[in-house]
Amino acid sequence: MADRPWDRHHILSLVDFSVDELNIVLQTAHSFKGVLLRQTKKVPTLQARLVANLFFEPSTRTRNSFELAAKRLSADVLNFAPSTSSLSKGETILDTAKTFLAMGADVMVIRHQQSGVPQLIATAMDELGGKVAVLNAGDGYHEHPSQGLLDLFTLCTALDAEQPTTQLLAGKKIAIVGDILHSRVARSNLSSLVTCGAEVHLAGPPTLLPREFAAYGVQVHWSLEPALLAADFVMTLRLQHERMSQYLIPSVREYHQQFGLTHARLGLCHPQVKVLHPGPVNRGVEISSDLMDDVALSLIPQQVTNGIAVRMALLYLISNLSA
Ligand code: CP
Repeated sequence: MADRPWDRHHILSLVDFSVDELNIVLQTAHSFKGVLLRQTKKVPTLQARLVANLFFEPSTRTRNSFELAAKRLSADVLNFAPSTSSLSKGETILDTAKTFLAMGADVMVIRHQQSGVPQLIATAMDELGGKVAVLNAGDGYHEHPSQGLLDLFTLCTALDAEQPTTQLLAGKKIAIVGDILHSRVARSNLSSLVTCGAEVHLAGPPTLLPREFAAYGVQVHWSLEPALLAADFVMTLRLQHERMSQYLIPSVREYHQQFGLTHARLGLCHPQVKVLHPGPVNRGVEISSDLMDDVALSLIPQQVTNGIAVRMALLYLISNLSA
């Protein structure tokens, strides 16, 4: 494992992650990826620790990935789902978190549809004097730090499978395409990729890509072609119909014609280009179905697999501080 000058207790956002912290995550995840390739894919690192997965919003990848990561580290895991909980009887989110604190949770992994809920719970837990660490598993439009870190690990591993480091991304052109406005994944990726020195280009219709995103230190394009030109990697994002309060695109068909990723469009990119998508995918909307399934070009399965190693790294790094 990495030598650990790690002093971050909660992981709520990537906006203030340093290059050193990103490299500690990459190095630790790389070590755990080795564990996952063994016949016995389990280590006793977090034996008798308790990880509580508090998912107030649906999830397939993130919730199961955190659960599996915790189990691979030998932690005990509690899963919470709102529909079968006392939330339906009027219990508040904070009282729910306090209940898991009283059960001895060492880590709370929190997803919520409202931005700021993981921060709110982290602050409340700190005020109670507990040592529980809070990990944001996606909050509203705000951030999805573990997704940003697994994307970073996937990019760096694609460039050097043996020594994935942030330096590999310096000067690489990365296009992020689609519904940037509603994307917590895009916000987490912007922060970490800019910190690594990547050249980040955003593309989407103006209704889904406000000019203000340029403040991240990235290029903003309202057409696809300049973002794809010579790109080393392209990340497509899901059109988030459930977060669209207004009519922000003319039609799904027209959106696909303008911003949908296809084999033909990838012809503009670097010859070795690879494609990522955080999932879940609207097939045939943000990406063509055959491109999504093209194992030579798509890193989507690797993103899911790498997510387990990255989340093992995050649980390990923050749990040891809550000893
Ligand atoms: N990428 C992602 O957050 O997927 P889930 O919503 O399935 O967790």
